[in-house]
Amino acid sequence: MNSKLQAAVDEIVDQFTVDKDFLCNATDHFLESMDSGLQHHTPKREFMPMIPTYVTAIPTGKEKGLFLAADLGGTNFRVCSINLKGDHTFTLEQAKARIPDELMKDSTAEDLFAHLAKKVKQFLEEFHQELNVSEDKLKLGFTFSFPVDQSALNRGKLIRWTKGFDLPDCVDKDVVILFQNELDKLGVKVHIAALANDTVGTLLSRAYSNNPAVTNSNTVVGAIFGTGTNGAYFEKLDKIPKLKKEQITEGTTGMVINTEWGSFDNTLKVLPKSKFDEKLDLETANVGYHLFEKRISGMFLGELLRIILIDLFDQGLIFQDLYKSRGGSLPHRLAEPWQLSSEVLSYLQIDDSTSLKMSGLILENELRLPTNEEERLVIQKITQTVSTRAARLSAIPLAAIVKRVSEQYEDDDKDFEFGCDGSVVEFYPDFQAKILEAIAIINPLKGSNKKIHLKIAKDGSGVGAALCASVAK
Ligand code: BGC
Repeated sequence: MNSKLQAAVDEIVDQFTVDKDFLCNATDHFLESMDSGLQHHTPKREFMPMIPTYVTAIPTGKEKGLFLAADLGGTNFRVCSINLKGDHTFTLEQAKARIPDELMKDSTAEDLFAHLAKKVKQFLEEFHQELNVSEDKLKLGFTFSFPVDQSALNRGKLIRWTKGFDLPDCVDKDVVILFQNELDKLGVKVHIAALANDTVGTLLSRAYSNNPAVTNSNTVVGAIFGTGTNGAYFEKLDKIPKLKKEQITEGTTGMVINTEWGSFDNTLKVLPKSKFDEKLDLETANVGYHLFEKRISGMFLGELLRIILIDLFDQGLIFQDLYKSRGGSLPHRLAEPWQLSSEVLSYLQIDDSTSLKMSGLILENELRLPTNEEERLVIQKITQTVSTRAARLSAIPLAAIVKRVSEQYEDDDKDFEFGCDGSVVEFYPDFQAKILEAIAIINPLKGSNKKIHLKIAKDGSGVGAALCASVAK
C-alpha cells in the first residue's frame, strides 16, 4: 500500500480504537446516565429516556392463551398470533410485509396506521376465520420500536421517530389510539391491550422460553442490535423516582424499563467522535439524537464505511483511476448516502480469497464499483474497524446493566443471560464474540463466580408483546 494511504488508514483505525480505559469509563458514565433518566420525567437530549413500561413482572413460562401481536419497528411490519402453552413453549403463525417507503416519510400517521390495520385484517381473514363468529375481541400486543412516553400498559405518545421514519404529525400522539381507531374503522375485532418496545418483548419472550432449572441462568436484559439498538431490564421501584405513586398499582415491586440506550451520551461526553460520525449524523432525520445508535446499529455501519471511503477519495488516495475513466464521476451507489447495507459489510469483513477477489465481485454487484487490490484491502480494513468499534461499544450498556442489577440477584447463584435479537447480533461475523470479549474486559461481575451468556431470542418481540397482552386486564 502506498505510504500516504497507509498513514491515512492507520489514523482512522486509531480513531476507532476502543480500549480498556475507554470501556470502563463509558460504562460508569452509562450508569450515571441511567440514574438521570430514571429521575427526570421529561425526556431531555442529555440523558437516556429510561421509559417505565408498566410491565411489572418477568414471565415464569406458565402463561397461557391465544394472543395477537403486531410489530412495527424497522423495514417490516409483522402480524402474528401466538398460542402460549404454559410450559415455556408456544406456537406461532405470522405474516410479514415490507413497509412501503412512501409510508415511512412524507406521509401521515393516519395513512400509516390505516395500512397496518388493513394488514391485521388480512391476517385474521387468512389464519383466524373463527374470530368472525366470536363475540370476544382478541387481545393484541403492539410492538412499536420507537421511543414512546408510556403512561399505561397500552398508552404511549411517540417522543420521536428513529431509523429513517419521519411522519411529523404522529409525534406526541398516542400510537395505540391511532392504531385502534383504524382497526375499529375496519371493524376488526381486536383490542390493543399492550404497547411494548421490541426490547421489552425480547426480554419477556426470552424469560418465558428460558427455564432457569435447565440453563442455570436468569434473563436480565432484552437487547436489540439490528437496524437500531436498544435494551430493556427490570428495575426496582425505589430506583425509579420519576414514577409517581398514583401511576403504580399496589404490590408492585419493580418495572421493566425501556432504556432507549440508542440515545446514550447524545452530548458526546465520552463517545468517540470522528469527523465521519459527525457527517453521518448530519445526514439523518434526527440530528443530535441517538448518537450511540449511530455508531453501532445496522442502519449506520454501511453509511459510515461509505463516508470514510469518500473521504479517502477526496484526499486523492483511492478510486482515482476509476474517477478518471468515468469522465469525472463515481458510481452513484457509492456517491449517494444509505446505499450500502450492513449485510454487504458482513461479506467484505471475512473475505479470505486470493487478492480479495470475492470482495471485488461483491462490490461490483452491490455498488457497481470496480476496485483494485489495494482499494479492496483498504475497504476490508475499514469495514473491520467500523464493525469492531460497534461490537465493543455494544458491550457498554450490557455490562452496565449487569452491574446495576447484580444486587437484585445477591441471594441467587445463577448466571446472567441476555436475550438478544436483530440482524447484526445474529448474523454479523464475530459480533457476539467481540461483545463478550469487551464485557470480559469491563468485568462487571468482578469478585463473583457468575458467568454471562448471550442468547439469541429470535423474533422474540412478537411473543413478548403477546406476553404483555396476556397480563393486561
Ligand atoms: C428505537 C428503539 C428500538 C430500537 C431497536 C431504536 O431506534 O428508538 O425504540 O427498540 O431502535 O429496534
